[in-house]
Amino acid sequence: MFATSRLFTSIAAKRAFSTSAANLTKVAVIGAAGGIGQPLSLLLKESPRISELSLYDIGNAHGVAADVSHINTDSTVTGYTPKKGGLEAALKGAHVVVIPAGVPRKPGMTRDDLFNTNAGIVRDLAVAAAKYCPDAHFLIISNPVNSTVPIFAETLKKAGVFNPKRLYGVTTLDSVRASRFVSEMKHLQASDCKVNVIGGHAGVTIIPLLSQTGLKFSQEEIDALTHRIQFGGDEVVVAKDGSGSATLSMAFAGARMANAVLEATVGGKKGIIEPAYVKSDVLAKEGVEYFSTNLELGPEGIEKIHDIGEISDYEKKLITEAIPLLKGSVTKAIEFVNK
Ligand code: NAD
Ligand code: LMR
Repeated sequence: MFATSRLFTSIAAKRAFSTSAANLTKVAVIGAAGGIGQPLSLLLKESPRISELSLYDIGNAHGVAADVSHINTDSTVTGYTPKKGGLEAALKGAHVVVIPAGVPRKPGMTRDDLFNTNAGIVRDLAVAAAKYCPDAHFLIISNPVNSTVPIFAETLKKAGVFNPKRLYGVTTLDSVRASRFVSEMKHLQASDCKVNVIGGHAGVTIIPLLSQTGLKFSQEEIDALTHRIQFGGDEVVVAKDGSGSATLSMAFAGARMANAVLEATVGGKKGIIEPAYVKSDVLAKEGVEYFSTNLELGPEGIEKIHDIGEISDYEKKLITEAIPLLKGSVTKAIEFVNK
């Protein structure tokens, strides 16, 4: 009898802690029924920081939500579609909003070829976000990231609610790939291969800093790895042969980034470092407004933007090649929002 009541007291205490603590929060996935959205929602259902998972899509969000909601973790899951103010309900109260809404590439396309469709989707979502959850942390996955992030920023600016500490273009997949490709080549454990990947998220704007890994590479290896990391997305697009681009590895990467933001902002964890494509002064002298480097995350979001650090002449050349492309993507985004 005593043992049973002690057991219940301890369960009740745990429950009270886990449901009332301020370290739990609402997360929205926008585009939740898609190739990335579904596995990402599944992975986020495992997060102990999430009390409410809000899954929005223009189609099938209810089905995905019903499915994910049966997983026996404590967060509630609700599906929303545009009907009956669904977007407002999905976004209201959200602390983190992850956005993989939009079309993916087919073989032969560049990410920039997605601009015509995805720019409008991302702009409209930013208008809604400005209205319903202006203080949220926004993680943009939709391509072309080099332009969708400035589109989101400019739209929030127009509404007077842009907070550069809380807008992240998700480039985590480039670091994930780089780590795996290096570990495969060098026969090392992937967890021991951390590669700092900077720049943007498209072809030659993706810049792996292999010189900072502490590993030795021949020039041939550097050329091969750099090319593979820059064009890793194409490997998946070609292999999927018209049915889309990376979804599972992207969900893994997106969950890693969302969890990092959650741990830093609601979990109170210090010293979390992840890269993302953000409003940055790192290359301000060259006129580059958005750039990905490592970020130190804190309670308010981006606490510190790391510099590029020591790099090789080869990597300096890669940056020089990327600069006009990065600037062009931002100019195109700003023109789109202002037209
Ligand atoms: P998908 O077509 O499988 O899914 C996209 C989902 O978005 C669909 O369910 C669709 O209904 C939904 N959607 C479209 N318009 C919407 C809107 N206005 N509101 C809400 N939902 C909407 O595509 P996917 O494979 O999941 O890829 C999604 C995007 O992510 C693409 O643009 C792709 O290029 C990009 N992506 C980025 C990275 C990265 O590293 N940042 C990696 C992979 C893919
Ligand atoms: C990726 O890097 O896999 C994504 O950006 C999707 C794509 O179009 O390659």
